[in-house]
Amino acid sequence: MRYAIGFFAAIALFAMAGLIVIYTGAYNVAATEPHAKISRWALDTTFHNSVSARSDDEAAQLELIEAADLRTGFQEFQEYCVHCHGAPGVEPAGWVSGMTPHPPELSRVADEWSPDEIFWIVKHGVKMSGMPPFGDTESDEAIRNIAAFVNRLDDMTPQQYRRLQQRWGGGEGHHGGSGSHSQAQDAQ
Ligand code: HEC
Repeated sequence: MRYAIGFFAAIALFAMAGLIVIYTGAYNVAATEPHAKISRWALDTTFHNSVSARSDDEAAQLELIEAADLRTGFQEFQEYCVHCHGAPGVEPAGWVSGMTPHPPELSRVADEWSPDEIFWIVKHGVKMSGMPPFGDTESDEAIRNIAAFVNRLDDMTPQQYRRLQQRWGGGEGHHGGSGSHSQAQDAQ
């Protein structure tokens, strides 16, 4: 019984501390301040578990992602993703350095996610992080191509990425056209 009282008192205190932080503005939302370790942990863990629980719905996408068009995926990636995430050997746009959380360079984190999880993240975005959803403007097919390419980014070297830019960077026939190319060039 004593333990139960202690337990509920602790929860009540915790809830009160939470409300005080929420109402007094004690928490600094400035993106120029890094996240406190505990909120970073809470956000990261929530993010990973949430995507993992929900991407099961996209399991049917896996086979389609394996068969997706990497060249188009690369071109879409250059057009929609490089200014935030950069790429091996390619810096993101200057204003991105102030973003909290910072969009990671995806060749370093691609192995943390399965292709259907990448598909889910790109389609739905990530709340409170600055990762936008592309599902409203891009077809599932386009997102599959992007997910397939991001999956291939795992451990890609700057030399390998540059070779892709030389081979595929022009984007002939692609609606992004030279725009996507010059964006990656600008970011370099
Ligand atoms: C406006 C900037 C922005 C754009 C554009 C953007 N992202 Fe993101 N993305 C983010 C941020 C910020 C995160 C970090 C989320 C976090 O860690 O909480 C993120 C996270 C991710 C992650 C999870 C990585 C990880 O382990 O944290 C993937 C995968 C991803 N983005 C893929 C993409 C792809 C593919 C595109 C292009 C279709 C894209 N993003 C476009 C900002 C952006």
